[in-house]
Amino acid sequence: MERTYVADTVNKIGEKINLYGWVDSKRDHKKIVFIDLRDRTGIVQVVGGEEFKELSSEDVIHIEGTVKERPNNLINSKIKTGTVEIEAHTLQILSKAQSLPIPINSHGYEIDEELRLKYRYLDIRRERMTQNLRIRSKVILFISNYLASQGFIEVETPILTKTTPEGARDFLVPSRLQKGKFYALPQSPQQYKQLLMVAGIERYFQITRCFRDEDPRKDRAYGEFTQLDLEMSFVTQEDILKLTEELFTNLVKEIFPEKHISQTPWPRLSHKETVEKYGSDRPDLRKNKNDKNELAFCWTLDFPLFTQQSEEDFFYGSGKAKFAPSHHMFTAPHPDDIPLLDTDPLKVRGLQHDLVLNGYEVGGGSIRINNPLIQAKIFELIGFTDKQKEEFKHMLEAFTYGVPPHGGIAPGIDRLLFSLLGETSVREVIAFPASSGGKTSVMNAPSEATEEQLKELGICVKEKV
Ligand code: AMO
Repeated sequence: MERTYVADTVNKIGEKINLYGWVDSKRDHKKIVFIDLRDRTGIVQVVGGEEFKELSSEDVIHIEGTVKERPNNLINSKIKTGTVEIEAHTLQILSKAQSLPIPINSHGYEIDEELRLKYRYLDIRRERMTQNLRIRSKVILFISNYLASQGFIEVETPILTKTTPEGARDFLVPSRLQKGKFYALPQSPQQYKQLLMVAGIERYFQITRCFRDEDPRKDRAYGEFTQLDLEMSFVTQEDILKLTEELFTNLVKEIFPEKHISQTPWPRLSHKETVEKYGSDRPDLRKNKNDKNELAFCWTLDFPLFTQQSEEDFFYGSGKAKFAPSHHMFTAPHPDDIPLLDTDPLKVRGLQHDLVLNGYEVGGGSIRINNPLIQAKIFELIGFTDKQKEEFKHMLEAFTYGVPPHGGIAPGIDRLLFSLLGETSVREVIAFPASSGGKTSVMNAPSEATEEQLKELGICVKEKV
């Protein structure tokens, strides 16, 4: 007999069905035993006899039974299947479960996070986490379909690649074939997406993983996170803002109908104005900060192209330069400010746009430099050494073969969901995030390599922690 899902039991009154799932809870009433059986569609009450006594929570079972309508006074309005219960005829235990190391019937915030991450496969069984992953999947599907309907194509770009700096440290991967050399995991697909514009793709997107070795925060995942990366040719900044605004307005309508966007069109603030007025370039413009369903999107524009270089800008230059890019080094200067590149670089505005939601920067992007001479000048201003310039000469060369004007944006999927759902950290919307100490969930990476692996890679580890 074919499988029936829990949620469908209400439509099968009087029918014999097969249910498969987990024992969510058990109530032993001596002669009869009640269990709540859980599958991916919900929970339903099952009534069994003596044989049910040996069941424990989280056992995986198969039940054959009949769907019975509950009398009016026994309807449980708290669950969707509260109008029925299943009278079990046979019980088969498919897998016994020992008692779980963490409770899964609460929201989970009260449990030590390290423990939750160690047993993430159990932690995800809790309703809140399952729900977060379902919403995440819906959001990604919506974005992909929406962009496809607007003529975008998804193109995958390499993970084993060269550095693409976004202001964090790189993760390096040693090469076996070229001993002593390293790949870098991309901090974003920035260079590839620009090369795809040279390639004539015109409208690119990718739901992609980015890798950054930087300290985690509640709105920042350690190691890796996911971006909706997109890029368009022959567009102005206005086109990018408009597309993003339409995409997310439609997304909220479709997936979060209970939420409302507090102001449309989304307010646009200059960097100077927002810093002066709110003391931050990502202001929280909600009218009522206690309202869980209020979404205050806004744009921050007219960022300065450069900031004063500090010691933290470890990637850029030889340490001798005065300037670091405030976003990244491919952002175009405002056309009116190009002469200032020679006279007063800190006054140059960039064609950068940051997307802000309820006080979090949920996306960033810009119109790009497409003139190799200006790009070379930016490399100079940020103090690139000849070796560093060499690392990026493919971009300058590509731009000599016919490059369309282009620009884009990359909303962070984890941070967007964290903010949309009002979660306590980005880790709550990621299936298997790394812990704050940089250990991966469940598998506890990083770990040591074997002597053979190191030898093959030509690597000798001097110091072990
Ligand atoms: P940027 O570095 O601003 O831009 O990143 C874009 C967005 O990615 C998200 N984000 C993160 N989310 C979770 N954890 C992190 N560690 C993390 N770091 C960044 C944020 C951020 O706004 N290539 C450019 C985009 C472009 O110019 O098109 C870029 O990566 O939501």
